[in-house]
Amino acid sequence: MKIIKVKDTQMGGKEAFNIVKSDIENGAKVLGLATGSSPITLYNEMTSSDLDFSNMTSVNLDEYVGLKPTNEQSYHYFMNDHLFNKKPFKNSYVPDGSNPDAEAATSAYDKIIEDNPIDLQILGIGRNGHIGFNEPGSPFDGKTRKVGLTESTIEANTRFFEDEKDVPRFAYSMGVGSIMKAKKIILLAYGENKADAIAATVDGPVTEDCPASALQNHPDVTLIIDDAAASKLK
Ligand code: F6R
Repeated sequence: MKIIKVKDTQMGGKEAFNIVKSDIENGAKVLGLATGSSPITLYNEMTSSDLDFSNMTSVNLDEYVGLKPTNEQSYHYFMNDHLFNKKPFKNSYVPDGSNPDAEAATSAYDKIIEDNPIDLQILGIGRNGHIGFNEPGSPFDGKTRKVGLTESTIEANTRFFEDEKDVPRFAYSMGVGSIMKAKKIILLAYGENKADAIAATVDGPVTEDCPASALQNHPDVTLIIDDAAASKLK
């Protein structure tokens, strides 16, 4: 794993953008994207750049079950708001959280990933080491599936909802196996509350207890992290 240490999220966004840009210049056509706070500065760099994404495809990691794209808390809405409305892609895919049929929704998404192999995947990481919504214990060969969110993830997400009881308890998420198929991966992490997860990802054993530790087995991963997130590395 390559580690780029940055002084803050602004610099992290710039470092990540430089990789995105050079990959696109070298022919990348499919970006795997994440929601949450970590990629926001990258998306700001992308929207204020002169890069053109209208020939590209994006595939997002996950979506809450039960939320439509028009719901302001949905990940689809987040992506429209932070990126797609300003810089449209040719095709942008997000799992269909409004489809209650989990089997149909997840197998349709696996077909999308198969048809659009991801050149560059952007990831954040949960405090418990989750990537996408692959919580501890998720199988490393997993495909897209319906997952229950852990208490720690529900608690972390409560800040986006009026009441904790409004936080969805399930999501459709790409699996660790699908993430590992991306040609290149960038993981963004900032802040002290990510330090344990980053230490487990980089220095810990490769174990399903820390889903992000699977990345040790990927040939092209770059971590872009600030000092606080790096503070527990060996
Ligand atoms: C979001 C996602 C999650 C987040 C993670 C970190 O699509 O898949 O794994 O990347 O929970 O979230 P932030 O960046 O808000 O700390």
